Amino acid sequence: MKYITFANGDKMPMLGLGTWKSAPGEVFQAVLWALEAGYRHIDCAAIYQNEKEVGEALAKAFSDGLVKREDVFITSKLWNNVHEEHMVEVGLDQTLADLKLDYVDLYLIHWPVSLKSEVMFPKEGDDYLTYEQVPLTSTWSGMEKLKKSGKARHIGVSNFNIAKLNMILQSAELAPEMNQIELHPYLPQYRLLDFCKNKGIAVTAYSPLGSGDRPKGRRSDDDPVLLEEKSIHEIAKKHSVSPAQVLISWAIHRNTAVIPKSVSNERIKQNLASKDIILDSSDMEKIKTINHKFRYIDGSFFTDIPGSPYKQSDLWEEA
Ligand code: A2P
Repeated sequence: MKYITFANGDKMPMLGLGTWKSAPGEVFQAVLWALEAGYRHIDCAAIYQNEKEVGEALAKAFSDGLVKREDVFITSKLWNNVHEEHMVEVGLDQTLADLKLDYVDLYLIHWPVSLKSEVMFPKEGDDYLTYEQVPLTSTWSGMEKLKKSGKARHIGVSNFNIAKLNMILQSAELAPEMNQIELHPYLPQYRLLDFCKNKGIAVTAYSPLGSGDRPKGRRSDDDPVLLEEKSIHEIAKKHSVSPAQVLISWAIHRNTAVIPKSVSNERIKQNLASKDIILDSSDMEKIKTINHKFRYIDGSFFTDIPGSPYKQSDLWEEA
């Protein structure tokens, strides 16, 4: 297994289990299968609304002696409705209670979008808090306190573009250690990846398989299906592996962490085996020439609500 190594020497396994869209009733078993198979990195978030069940699986794994707490890297994310500086710790405390942990290995600001405390998902302009009301730098100050207290061993962000990262970097006492973003051959994000590398910010690839089970509101019938991409199939055939394994291996070859989601024991194992696949430079080059570009999680559920103070340019790089 390859690792991301943080400045203090802590290591994060590059391949982890994603839990977004893993339904209650499924995620308990999925986490246990993953730990049994050898995963030592689980990616969670409060908004996935399944952290209690993930916590039950972790508690069982620890009490059964399957793994020790210190041997599993656990990430979670601060939801948009607890961005005010004094609320950040409240957000993490809820996650820690749900996960039944006393610290997370990595805690991320989930989106650069703030909502009123009673709102989970915005329906109208009045549901939001603006950057003037809650500067992201103040949310970041709350995150820094969590790292200093030890409740979060490492801190970072998710869905942050270069402008937002620069803003945090300019005022931060502690720099973000991670940016978790959508990354796959339809959205390779070379510029953002280079920027993060130059600033010493590690990167995690989400939706590495094209998020085929994303909710109805986040898809349309003519969206491209990454797992059906012809050149990915050709490379899979050449190595006698599956297209999903090529996609996971591609992410690891780019030195990004990657968190494929699965609730199937067979696919959980298959995905972990991707760590041993070696793609050659011609495979990587072939993937680079895929010219179809597509973002599956485009954030329009924040930006396109009438009255939203947020724009697509608050989220993504300018084209
Ligand atoms: P399932 O959970 O039934 O295995 P992403 O990680 O990009 O969000 O993609 C998750 C989707 O990919 C889920 O629908 C998941 O289904 C599916 N998936 C996970 N692993 C594989 C695999 N090895 N082959 C095909 N589909 C997979």
